[in-house]
Amino acid sequence: MIKITNLSKSFDGGKTYSVKELDLEVKKGELLVLLGSSGCGKSTTMKMINRLIEPTQGTIEIDGTINTELDKVELRRNIGYVFQKIGLFPHMTIEENVCIVPKMLKWSKERMQERARELLSLVELPIEQYGNRLPQELSGGQQQRVGVARALAVDPDYLLMDEPFGALDAVTRDSLQKEVLQLKEELGKTIIFVTHDLFEALLLGDRIAVMDGGILQQCGAPEELLNTPKTNFVKELFLRPARQLSQFKEVF
Ligand SMILES: Nc1ncnc2c1ncn2[C@@H]1O[C@H](COP(=O)(O)OP(=O)(O)OP(=O)(O)O)[C@@H](O)[C@H]1O
Ligand SMILES: [Mg+2]
Repeated sequence: MIKITNLSKSFDGGKTYSVKELDLEVKKGELLVLLGSSGCGKSTTMKMINRLIEPTQGTIEIDGTINTELDKVELRRNIGYVFQKIGLFPHMTIEENVCIVPKMLKWSKERMQERARELLSLVELPIEQYGNRLPQELSGGQQQRVGVARALAVDPDYLLMDEPFGALDAVTRDSLQKEVLQLKEELGKTIIFVTHDLFEALLLGDRIAVMDGGILQQCGAPEELLNTPKTNFVKELFLRPARQLSQFKEVF
């Protein structure tokens, strides 16, 4: 379980807050979606979980231990991170990129190669064809899939996925969304998935945490947000697409 308590982050000494007094729990095996518009604090929250950013205030517990008390390597072994801006190392091959964490953990060459083969085949980039290429020799979507493979490399219990499918076409996105659901259902991963796409949130989320301006508006099951929105922001969020759809009906 991930338990976030009274978490705040200010980058300017308390003048403004990117995340403010956030309380959130993610249960074992759950897929929690963080939903909100650009700049609302989604990535900042994710980065504080695996300690790329230190909080101004508050705590994050991973399975009962506050993350600042965990060794950073151990923390990141247990939490796979798919970055918003892909973040593959440009001078390393695809296979080397996938094996960054295994290498840190000093796995044998054979074990790393076997794992890279397995993972690259999972994201449909066969190692024979793609393993030796550099990131720049892959399309944006293919690079994002390498990012997913890399996050899974040492079989972490937790996955943080920060808008992993932002740059993908609808069809590829569809098939990867299904894969995310499989990760949860078949491998029992606990996942926090960031998106600003309401439909993606509804498709994937067991629960959805809606953020606006660094503040959690509401967290609940999709039908809970839809039926009993606690704030105007949440209410509007669901009304907007309904209005857009009704415009379509008039056109056809
Ligand atoms: N390193 C930083 N220094 C100063 N301000 C920052 C830093 N990182 C983020 N911010 C600010 O914090 C706020 C939240 O940023 P964050 O990246 O968490 O947003 P986001 O919800 O992930 O947005 P997006 O959907 O565009 O990725 C923004 O106003 C941003 O400018
Ligand atoms: Mg972001």
